[in-house]
Amino acid sequence: MMMDDIPEARRKLALSKPKSKTVSRRPRALIFAGVLSVGAILGLAVLAMVRFQLPQTATVPIATPTPSTPELDNVLGHLEYEQASASALQSITTDGRIRLRQAAAASFLQMQAAARASGVSLVPISGFRTIEEQNHLFFEVKQQRNQEARERAEVSAPPGYSEHHTGYAIDMGDGKVPAANLSASFEKTAAFAWLQANAAKFSFEMSFPPNNPQGINYEPWHWRFAGDRHSLETFYKAKQLQKR
Ligand code: DAL
Ligand code: ZN
Repeated sequence: MMMDDIPEARRKLALSKPKSKTVSRRPRALIFAGVLSVGAILGLAVLAMVRFQLPQTATVPIATPTPSTPELDNVLGHLEYEQASASALQSITTDGRIRLRQAAAASFLQMQAAARASGVSLVPISGFRTIEEQNHLFFEVKQQRNQEARERAEVSAPPGYSEHHTGYAIDMGDGKVPAANLSASFEKTAAFAWLQANAAKFSFEMSFPPNNPQGINYEPWHWRFAGDRHSLETFYKAKQLQKR
């Protein structure tokens, strides 16, 4: 066919076709060769890993699990606490008999008022205790009750090991059910139900719930303040591996 027989637009197409064929073959071949090379390198690398790495990893000894509850400094399950200074304490009763650290005292009084507004009577039974007072509670009561140290420690901390030394712990009763004071039956009172539902709003938490990791008897009446940095560190610093 003569070139002059082809209209101008089609002529350009016919002329350019063979040219593009010869030019595009080489890059495709190069890409194909490249892919083959990369594939071969990767294949060799995988083979090398299988040959040399797997036996190594297979011989790495399996780590023995660390105990979830490591030994902590304690005496019969009780942890050591510093005694708060008298100047850090504030009374929570009109007779001044029961004291807590200032932040805990302020929060307790707010909590007591909120409970009262709901018709619940929260009565403080015990707050801050000195190491000397705890000495009496642990050793003298233990003798009176003919208890061995291990048995006594299930319900009372040895001197130097009570949360009450910190000024953050409080034992509470229900003013309408005094017979339940310091007894497991406190959990049946309206005061306990109210505490369960509301105490966290005031940063109080039960220290010894059932089956606590310290192995202390269930004490539904004993709560502690953990509402500022000092109180939080007092109860949780370096004790984070406990279950709670
Ligand atoms: N009853 C608690 C354990 C104490 O004595 O601190
Ligand atoms: Zn207590």
